[in-house]
Amino acid sequence: MAMPKVAFLECSRCHQHHNPATPQTVCTACAGSLYVRYDLSAANDAAARDRIGATAQDRRWSGMWRYREVLPYVEPVTLGEGWTPMLPSRRHENVWLKEEGANPTGTFKARGLALAVTMARHYGLKKLAAPTAGNAGGALAAYSAAAGIEAHIFMPRDTPMANQVECRAYGAHLYLVDGLISDCGRMVAERKAAEGWFDVSTLKEPYRVEGKKTMGYELVEQLGWEYPDAVFYPTGGGVGMIGMWKAFEEMEQLGWVKGRKPKMIAVQAAGCAPVVRAFEHGEAASQVWQDAHTAASGLRVPKPYGDYILLDILRQSAGTAVALSDNVIFASLKDWATREGLLLSPEGAAATAAYDYLIATGFLSKSDRVVLFNTGSGNKYTDVIGARV
Ligand SMILES: Cc1ncc(COP(=O)(O)O)c(C=O)c1O
Ligand SMILES: [Zn+2]
Repeated sequence: MAMPKVAFLECSRCHQHHNPATPQTVCTACAGSLYVRYDLSAANDAAARDRIGATAQDRRWSGMWRYREVLPYVEPVTLGEGWTPMLPSRRHENVWLKEEGANPTGTFKARGLALAVTMARHYGLKKLAAPTAGNAGGALAAYSAAAGIEAHIFMPRDTPMANQVECRAYGAHLYLVDGLISDCGRMVAERKAAEGWFDVSTLKEPYRVEGKKTMGYELVEQLGWEYPDAVFYPTGGGVGMIGMWKAFEEMEQLGWVKGRKPKMIAVQAAGCAPVVRAFEHGEAASQVWQDAHTAASGLRVPKPYGDYILLDILRQSAGTAVALSDNVIFASLKDWATREGLLLSPEGAAATAAYDYLIATGFLSKSDRVVLFNTGSGNKYTDVIGARV
């Protein structure tokens, strides 16, 4: 059992290779996001797949690190992220809820930032910076604290209180911005050279996607190494969906899963739905969404950097993109709290609401096996949810 060496970084757009020996951001030729590529020959059989359970018995390789055979060969900075529960719905026979609220810092952002900070420490980086819709900031603050690295976090001023508090508590430098995540991103870009910050913005460095791909491995393993028919993913920047799709392609190469990949369903809020609009118009990339607003703060991303990848995945998978109003999202949140005993994040409730919607439209049927992502714990949103229930 070994972790593979990263062979090269490959541009998602023009396929140019980049050197993994030094920290990389985006493609130097076309500014596309970079994928991590390995020589996976050692993991290329069913025996490797069967070793995963045994690996996870070793405390150092628990959580998402059970997939060490498909992660970089580097000592992890871990807080126990990954291997989250896959909960069967109490009401819908073929519905599973992937409970990402069980991660450190209460959201799936832990996975991407565990790996990004692991690699930052490996490269000897001392100062990281990122714009955030909220939860990525909390995760970056936590993993940076664990690694002894300085974190500079730019977040909209109206981000839920928990996100602001956690950044301060972990000792990060927090910058509250009157604007959206796009304004935060601009500030990081303007200041990073002078300040000596390495920018760990979503999809502008290769390892956050790589950490989030473990969600794809996990959901397939938890379903007995089988694909579901559909995966519902609350989409802001879309990193999780891009990561899961990469996982599915790797697993197929490795012979770890067979069959038809799931339909990928991107779920957005009606007040900020650039991916849904581009999907419906048949476009290859999205346009900036003006006046973005929704209480599902993680979905408030006016133009995802990896929109061209997301749109391609939605079409390749015969999936779709759905936008729902905040009223519908919060009705589903209340429904799952009162009837399933689960306090979802508003983003997760967008996924549960989208399931009801696609059953009602007939896009899916009740016999389809689906996974709904609750990307974060509702406990991080007591101010937001408290104002509505
Ligand atoms: C709870 C939650 N769900 C979903 C998202 C969207 O994530 P992604 O950027 O992977 O689309 C975010 C992003 O901030 C989030 O915090
Ligand atoms: Zn390129």
